[in-house]
Amino acid sequence: MSVKPSSRNRKLYVSTHGCQMNVHDSERMVDVLGQSGFDLASNREEADFILINTCHIREKAAEKVYSELGRYKPLKRARPDLLIGVAGCVAQAEGAEIFRRQPLVDIVVGPQSYHRLPGMVEKAASGEKQLDTEFPEEDKFDHLPGVSGRVRRNFSSFLTVQEGCDKFCSFCVVPYTRGAESSRPVASVLADARNLADDGVVEITLLGQNVNAYHGIGPDGSEWSLARLIRVVAELDGIERIRFTTSHPRDMSDDLIAAFGDTDKLMPYLHLPVQSGSDRVLRAMNRRHTSAYYRNVIERTRKARPDIAISGDFIVGFPGETESDFRQTLRLCDEIVYAQAYSFKYSARPGTPAAERDQVDEAEKSDRLARLQEVLSSQQREFQRSQIDRVLPVLLEKRGRLDGQLTGRSPYMNSVHVQAGDMLLGRIVPARILKSEPNSLAGEIVLGHEAIARGGNLPNVSLSDPVRHEGVTGVA
Ligand code: SAH
Ligand code: SF4
Ligand code: F3S
Repeated sequence: MSVKPSSRNRKLYVSTHGCQMNVHDSERMVDVLGQSGFDLASNREEADFILINTCHIREKAAEKVYSELGRYKPLKRARPDLLIGVAGCVAQAEGAEIFRRQPLVDIVVGPQSYHRLPGMVEKAASGEKQLDTEFPEEDKFDHLPGVSGRVRRNFSSFLTVQEGCDKFCSFCVVPYTRGAESSRPVASVLADARNLADDGVVEITLLGQNVNAYHGIGPDGSEWSLARLIRVVAELDGIERIRFTTSHPRDMSDDLIAAFGDTDKLMPYLHLPVQSGSDRVLRAMNRRHTSAYYRNVIERTRKARPDIAISGDFIVGFPGETESDFRQTLRLCDEIVYAQAYSFKYSARPGTPAAERDQVDEAEKSDRLARLQEVLSSQQREFQRSQIDRVLPVLLEKRGRLDGQLTGRSPYMNSVHVQAGDMLLGRIVPARILKSEPNSLAGEIVLGHEAIARGGNLPNVSLSDPVRHEGVTGVA
């Protein structure tokens, strides 16, 4: 009989950068390492293994990895047995180069190989550096423990249904770091969704780099669309809310647009990046659609679901973007009116076509970004203000910053704080919105209001499980 060398479990600290997919991947890495005896550390100092899950989307995001690694030097010097790993999109893009730039790294693992982490950790512990940036034949989802909402006691959970991208926008690294577009089979997505529902999860966000390109094989052998998948997830007892992200305008099918109108559980919120309002720039970006096409998609979606909140992504200062192109982006924003948006200065990424072109002056980019953000922030404030006095169903997800406060989300993704006791965690309650704060709304619970209808199916949640998520930190 073998005896474990140490009586205590080893401790894992995960630091997460990047998109929701990375946040979810970090959770899955915690799960798979949990099976091989790792518990979450509450800080870096007590960790036996520090894993940075990285993002390569813009230069700043990628450079963060090296500054973070530099900060771990004293820890590693004090404890040479401390393992340090780099996962995610920088790992995929830079591979062995990471060992050269920062020799304290023991493990480099790409987004498609992290189910192999337990074996890599054991080998790294015996002093052998580990690199795995393959796109393996086997499906990592078949080798990961099933998703569980219980471990983290989340009421809202991500669920990956699609990964990778074949669109090759000329600025973007994702097709290289995440690989070719692929969809998980319907049956395995549904098995995960059922597990989440059984664990008390009320809201599921279906994730994919190009989630609306979903075309998973259904039980009948045919390819299912995202809309069809959503309609079936909506039938699961306990699941009250469904969201999906991130979508490409070209894949907003009629069926998906219709789902916003006919599937109550699909929340009225659509994140649909457009990047630019200029057709010339959209063409240079290889976005494969015009601004008129985007406007039309939004118009049709609003027809299907008039109260839908629209969110977007923008890039300013793409190579060749003129002042007049940029003004067309401002004009598009004025027409669409966003509830929420993310905007970035173009960042040249090695290996992408646009990086080779004539670049816009940095000061010009900063100026355009400031002007765009002024418009977008004012639209966001206006959207939040428009919620005042409305009674909205709010899914209460966690304790707020203040005593006796819980925080949740409205259907439109706004954070809402209310005074409420822990027994309401995981419930959808009607809340009257009283005030708009910079990044959230303040509300009060209104009992007996018809809005409680959406919370009719209250989940049976045990509140005794400890919250075990402190090792995973913020999103870039
Ligand atoms: N899959 C999603 C989002 C990908 S990355 C989509 O297709 O829309 C998230 C956002 O980062 C993009 O929408 C874009 O606005 C921004 N982004 C991507 N590459 C960038 C780059 N090289 N420079 C600046 N912003 C970038
Ligand atoms: Fe990147 Fe374009 Fe694919 Fe989105 S659609 S992930 S921006 S290449
Ligand atoms: Fe970043 Fe990779 Fe996501 S590059 S945005 S972590 S897919």
